[in-house]
Amino acid sequence: MQQLMAEPRVLPSILSADMGKLGAQVEEVIDAGARIIHFDVMDGHFVPPITIGPLVLGGIADQVHDAGGAVDVHLMIENPEQQFAEFAEAGADSITFHAEATPHANRLLHSIRELGCGAGVAINPATPVEAVAELRGYADLVLCMTINPGWGGQKLLESSYDKLERLLPLVGEARVEVDGGVDKNTAAPLAAAGVHLFVAGSAIFGTGDPASAYAEIAAAAGAS
Ligand code: DX5
Ligand code: ZN
Repeated sequence: MQQLMAEPRVLPSILSADMGKLGAQVEEVIDAGARIIHFDVMDGHFVPPITIGPLVLGGIADQVHDAGGAVDVHLMIENPEQQFAEFAEAGADSITFHAEATPHANRLLHSIRELGCGAGVAINPATPVEAVAELRGYADLVLCMTINPGWGGQKLLESSYDKLERLLPLVGEARVEVDGGVDKNTAAPLAAAGVHLFVAGSAIFGTGDPASAYAEIAAAAGAS
């Protein structure tokens, strides 16, 4: 995962994929050059919807790994400390939980690394950047939500650019990831703001041609 995260990347979010042909959809973006697949877990509590869990992760992990790729798990769940190990077991390469969901972010980052996964912490739009300042050196990635989590297809919050400017100096060596409203138009200004990992769901799988959409966003982001 560390090696794959060394370069800027666009991470297709399968939340917007056709779940009835998930394997084919994953194959399509991998063939187009994607190497990190973003996997959104929602529990119906931290955010209203319920999505997918370790069983579905186990269903795609081998396919992604066989292609030299990795799965980036984004836990939008309460009590992430009770669930993260199952995702590591099911094939996650990185696991990101929300700072708002646990009082023990430092301990959880340690525990995720101990299982051999990249460790990430996410913050919602309303959470101040200072929430991650004390985690410098413990997190491999910091996920700045650029929408309120729960649904794909929302517009990126304009306040995100200012927030990223304040976040960047606080993260140390960690990679900054954004999630929400990333498309061929927002990718370039986000890259200019210092973003390294770009999650894109509807702008890839919501189009008739995920491979071309991926390529277009990757080019705009300056990503491989
Ligand atoms: C939403 C999820 C996102 C979602 C982004 O809470 O965390 O990963 O797939 O969707 P788009 O790219 O459509 O904004
Ligand atoms: Zn996500």
